[in-house]
Amino acid sequence: MQATVARRAMFNAAHRLHVAAWSDEKNKEAFGPCNNANYHGHNYALTAKVTGDIDPVTGYVIDIKTLKDIIETEVVQRYDHRNLNLDCPDFVSKNPTAENIAVAIYGHIKKHLPPNLTLTITLHETDRNYVEYNGN
Ligand code: NI
Repeated sequence: MQATVARRAMFNAAHRLHVAAWSDEKNKEAFGPCNNANYHGHNYALTAKVTGDIDPVTGYVIDIKTLKDIIETEVVQRYDHRNLNLDCPDFVSKNPTAENIAVAIYGHIKKHLPPNLTLTITLHETDRNYVEYNGN
C-alpha cells in the first residue's frame, strides 16, 4: 500500500538568465526580462512529494518532520534571500532556470531519503509557471 507525502516550502531569491557565450542581443531574445543585467527576484514555492510504502507499524511513508527538516536545511537555508547566480555554487556554470533549480533541489533532498522512496519536485517560479522533476 503506497501513499504520497508532500511538504511545501517557500524561498525568495534573485537570478539572471544569461549565456556568457552569446551576444547581448541573443540573450535578450532568448530570456527577455529574465536577462536583466541587475537581476530580478522570484518568490519560489516548492512542493516535495515523497512516495513509498506505508510502514505498517508507524503508519508513515516518511515522518513529515524529517522531510520538513531536510527541506529547511538543504533548500531554504541554501537559497533563501540569495542571489542564485552569485551566491550559490549550484549555478556557477548553470543557468538558474526553474528547471535547473528543481533538478538541484531534487539532488539535495534525495540523498537524505531511503532509496526505496521516490521523490518528485514541483517548483513554482510564479503563480502560473512551474516545473516538475522526478529524477528521470
Ligand atoms: Ni526570472
